[in-house]
Amino acid sequence: MHHHFLVGSSFTAAATVTVTLFLLALPDRHQTRGQSQSQSHVYRRNLVDLAEPPPLTFSPKDGTFQISVFEDLHFGKNAWEEWGAFQDSATARVMNTVLDAEASTDLVVLNGDLISGENTYRENSTRYVDQIVEPMVRRGMTWASTYGNHDTDFNLSRTALWEEERKWLGSRTGRMVDHPEAGISNYYLPVYPAECGGRNMNRQLQDQQESSPACECDTPSLILWFFDSRGGRAYQSHYPVTGQPLGEQNWVHHSVVGWFKTTRASINAPSLTANEKVILSIGFVHIPTAASLAFQRSKGGVDASRQPGINDNVPLSPQGQEWCKGASSDDDGEEHNGEAKEVEEKEGCDYGDQYIPFMQAIAAASHGMMALFSGHDHGNSWCYKWDGKIPGAQVKRDMDQAVITAPGNEEQQQEEEGEGEGNGQGQKRGVNLCFGQRTGYGGYGSWIRGSRQIVVHQEELEEFVIRTHIRLENGEVVGAVTLNGTYGEDRYPVTRNERTHLVDSALEDF
Ligand SMILES: *[C@@H]1O[C@H](CO)[C@@H](O)[C@H](O)[C@H]1NC(C)=O
Ligand SMILES: *[C@@H]1O[C@H](CO)[C@@H](O)[C@H](O)[C@H]1NC(C)=O
Ligand SMILES: *[C@@H]1O[C@H](CO)[C@@H](O)[C@H](O)[C@H]1NC(C)=O
Repeated sequence: MHHHFLVGSSFTAAATVTVTLFLLALPDRHQTRGQSQSQSHVYRRNLVDLAEPPPLTFSPKDGTFQISVFEDLHFGKNAWEEWGAFQDSATARVMNTVLDAEASTDLVVLNGDLISGENTYRENSTRYVDQIVEPMVRRGMTWASTYGNHDTDFNLSRTALWEEERKWLGSRTGRMVDHPEAGISNYYLPVYPAECGGRNMNRQLQDQQESSPACECDTPSLILWFFDSRGGRAYQSHYPVTGQPLGEQNWVHHSVVGWFKTTRASINAPSLTANEKVILSIGFVHIPTAASLAFQRSKGGVDASRQPGINDNVPLSPQGQEWCKGASSDDDGEEHNGEAKEVEEKEGCDYGDQYIPFMQAIAAASHGMMALFSGHDHGNSWCYKWDGKIPGAQVKRDMDQAVITAPGNEEQQQEEEGEGEGNGQGQKRGVNLCFGQRTGYGGYGSWIRGSRQIVVHQEELEEFVIRTHIRLENGEVVGAVTLNGTYGEDRYPVTRNERTHLVDSALEDF
């Protein structure tokens, strides 16, 4: 681990204070157009590994936790053209519009493809990070990223991107899996109950001072998981013979699946031995899986009023696209002397089955996963309640168990409420597989830009409920749905399929 010493105080001072804030006036190059000098004050970490923002909590005001998801930002696309820079400032404006409208956002998630790596120059490819995080930094907000297939390329290193991001105090993007093939953005973030808000502000300190055993704040209410679906092209590497750029595997690596299973079990262990419930989770991964593809291809498929949203990328592009089936599907996620068993071929296949161990883990009852959010397909923005079926896999069985053992005991609820009607519906659980809304002006397609909003109410966690909507760049809200027991049956307004163009957007600036 390298420590990055930035401008600022002495090492000793930094080492004794867990969180050290720096006010730096950045040089001109960091400023986006139209921004005044006074907004150039930003918070930077002094030591990459030391300073962490305080733990996340549900809002003490209303008991909600809200996430704004930005995805497919594609900064740096066609950087050498004038309109390349226009695109980036238009993207920043989308982010600012959304954050102004969604003022109760507790966390921003950057769900992959932050940068168009294929259009970057080696010497400054990570410099876009400053522009990308500016809307959050300006508001004193924190964010957490997954990286996408465009975040690694011949001139863009995923590691360097992460290190650049980590210089910002607001970044919660972690790296918890060491395997060299695992990618970078594999980690989790706990979200604590609203009551812990004040207490958690300086958690480590507090824990030492009052070792009260009854502290509720030791147990999170919700876990956010971030998975790296990798992809793209290797940094500064070519195939020796052909000279072609080296393609990277584009699915969640088996070491990450193994890490997820064991970490999940250890997080749950204390509350399960205390006869409490599984701690529920929400996941983020840039590239969707073939579970969503199978639904899209199924008879009936995506219904505009039952799964509202845009469904223009048909077929969608899943993990393992263009790779042939490998031997990794029988992998239990454990490492075999550090060697990946799979021998995948990248030739002539639509997609391989490498995603199966990942989705089996996502479906497993004890993991309590309520929803998994992806980006990648710019023209898709629907949510689908997945029943756990993968052709040729046993995931459905795991999901049936999930119905029995998932939190929110139905019998108990029935007794308490004294009404049987409707409770049966609540049992129809599954993992909601959702696309967000493409946010960036770079990259393909002209679908209206926006951001998926995820709102979790602390008291609705018991009922396995998430509310979500899409905030568009024009300020409108579309696709507002409740991911509850009857999602997939309930009817909602159909989302209009609108387009926006850079020229309209750029004109607003003049
Ligand atoms: C990578 O960066 C170098 C140096 O800026 C540039 O000359 C080259 O064109 C870039 N290569 C690619 C594949 O983008
Ligand atoms: C990166 O370098 C290139 C070539 O020198 C330049 O055109 C481009 O504007 C630079 N990008 C950033 C983000 O500084
Ligand atoms: C789920 O939410 C929808 C929309 O709010 C509602 O109409 C439906 O009754 C809810 N279903 C359950 C089981 O609560």
